[in-house]
Amino acid sequence: MCGIIGYIGNKNVTGVLIQGLKSLEYRGYDSSGIAIRNSKDLKIVKSVGKIVNLEEKVKNINGIYNVGIGHTRWATHGEVNEINCHPHNVNNVTLVHNGIIENFRELKRELEIIGYKFKSNTDSEVIAALIDSYNGDKYDALVYAQMKMRGSYALVIMFSDEKDCLYAMKKDSPLVVGIGKNENLVGSDVSIILPYTKKYIDIDDGEIVKITKNNVSVYNENGLISKNIQIANWSLDDAQKCGYEHFMLKEINDQKQLCIKLYDKFVSENNYSNEIPDISKYDNVDIVACGSAFFAASIGKYLIDNYICDGSIHVNVDVSSEYRYKKHFYNDKSLVIVLSQSGETADTLACLRMANSLNVDTLAIVNVPSSSIAKEAKMVMPMLAGPEIAVATTKGYFAQVLDLSLIVQKLAYVKGLISKNQKDELIRTFKRLNDIIDDLFNIDYSKIASKLFLKEHIYFIGRGLDYIVGLEASLKLKEISYIHSDVYQAGELKHGPIALINKNTPVFSIITNDEVMEKSLSNAIEAQSRGAKLYLLVTEEINVDNLKIEELICVPAVSDFYQSLINIIPFQFIAYEVAKMKGCDVDKPKNLAKSVTVE
Ligand code: F6R
Repeated sequence: MCGIIGYIGNKNVTGVLIQGLKSLEYRGYDSSGIAIRNSKDLKIVKSVGKIVNLEEKVKNINGIYNVGIGHTRWATHGEVNEINCHPHNVNNVTLVHNGIIENFRELKRELEIIGYKFKSNTDSEVIAALIDSYNGDKYDALVYAQMKMRGSYALVIMFSDEKDCLYAMKKDSPLVVGIGKNENLVGSDVSIILPYTKKYIDIDDGEIVKITKNNVSVYNENGLISKNIQIANWSLDDAQKCGYEHFMLKEINDQKQLCIKLYDKFVSENNYSNEIPDISKYDNVDIVACGSAFFAASIGKYLIDNYICDGSIHVNVDVSSEYRYKKHFYNDKSLVIVLSQSGETADTLACLRMANSLNVDTLAIVNVPSSSIAKEAKMVMPMLAGPEIAVATTKGYFAQVLDLSLIVQKLAYVKGLISKNQKDELIRTFKRLNDIIDDLFNIDYSKIASKLFLKEHIYFIGRGLDYIVGLEASLKLKEISYIHSDVYQAGELKHGPIALINKNTPVFSIITNDEVMEKSLSNAIEAQSRGAKLYLLVTEEINVDNLKIEELICVPAVSDFYQSLINIIPFQFIAYEVAKMKGCDVDKPKNLAKSVTVE
């Protein structure tokens, strides 16, 4: 959702801010703005729509400015217009804000009583007035604002009467400070600092940072504190398209390399490494996540249910926004696993906090190392996917499924439910996974896409793991191509949804499980008999010679522990090609944000 940036140094700040805002675009936004300052004046420029609109406007700025702040806004309080767009200025205070202030109406009333008048409908302008209203030292004004505000915030603040510094502070929204040479940056994530430095400091809740060109000082209630300087292990290339037309296409392709990265991290001397959490002491496991991550969680549950078949573990999956409002009865053998690419998804973070507060063990499978979820979980298993910029997840989902698969493989081995030979075979397959999937990257999916891109409804059917893959395939297509699609367990089709099948309705049938192959094929034929055009995704071993099929995709057959990873790749490409053919904004689909930091 909203992204923030601040810069102070020798460079022309406008260019730095525009570049930074572009690297924050992936978070989702509807307007953007910057405030820049030099010894003479303060300029604020705002624009609705894409950052290129803002870029066009700032071209007219003359003069040299070396300090500034910028913002991409994803509207929460007040409609999308330039008045509501950040930065907000109230007298001496100009700021950008990511988060939501829950008690802003109450604060606004108090400030109005003492004479403040507001131009926008935002909670953020209220913060600027709140800080401005404090009569005294700047640091104390920020502490005062911290005490008065309820909700979440990452803020970068400029004071008009203190020209050579920026202030920043946070609660429940991410904030990092990049440490450069004669320049420093602050913002929502490390992608903004990568063009200038790899050194950064992770800011924690409650801390206040004062940033000058040559110095960064971090304070908390104990005064000045010393913080670890971290080195970003993401490169600038990771956060760029590197010749691909879209980030999504690059990220789909990154999955091959990701198999190797995860193998190197999680396999040691042909065995599961200690980096894979051993969850054998738990008998009650809840896996919680949102969206695609929830589908990854569902694959985790399927694998536990089917391979930890001694009844020693009860596993439950839930979407975070539901789980957090349910009653839970944990004991000392309970574990809550949260899955999150961004590590900032509000509902998932709330579930983690709830579990932590109830003293139950928590494990996060998370991609962004500096995220709140990574910091707050008791155990962390990294996804190592590198920055995921396209809003629709591909490699993030892939890494979540693979991480969970490895946890379950290790669990099955530790519990003696798979033999050493089976374990060795699984590890050998893992080592070859990037080769096994290679052919799927050379198929021309545009032919299939050309048959789909004008359709209004598409259906996916499958059983077991294939059904879950259908859920993710359908979500990918919906999000970026805006085509309606639905998913049914193949056996359920005739219990109702088959009424929706008309002449030429596309039905994707996913059949990669031998055990239910005959039945799944019958279900596909039932749909075809009602006029559906049949698209099949099957393993090479399944014979479909006698069927009339619109399009056939054959994938290699592997163990269940890897099959769903293989099966999703063609659907990622199909969604991508369909969206491109429809002329959709593939990387930034409408209405969606990458990091969903509101509930
Ligand atoms: C779908 C998608 C979303 C995310 C969901 C959770 O393509 O990207 O459904 O999977 O918002 O996000 P994280 O994993 O960041 O918690």
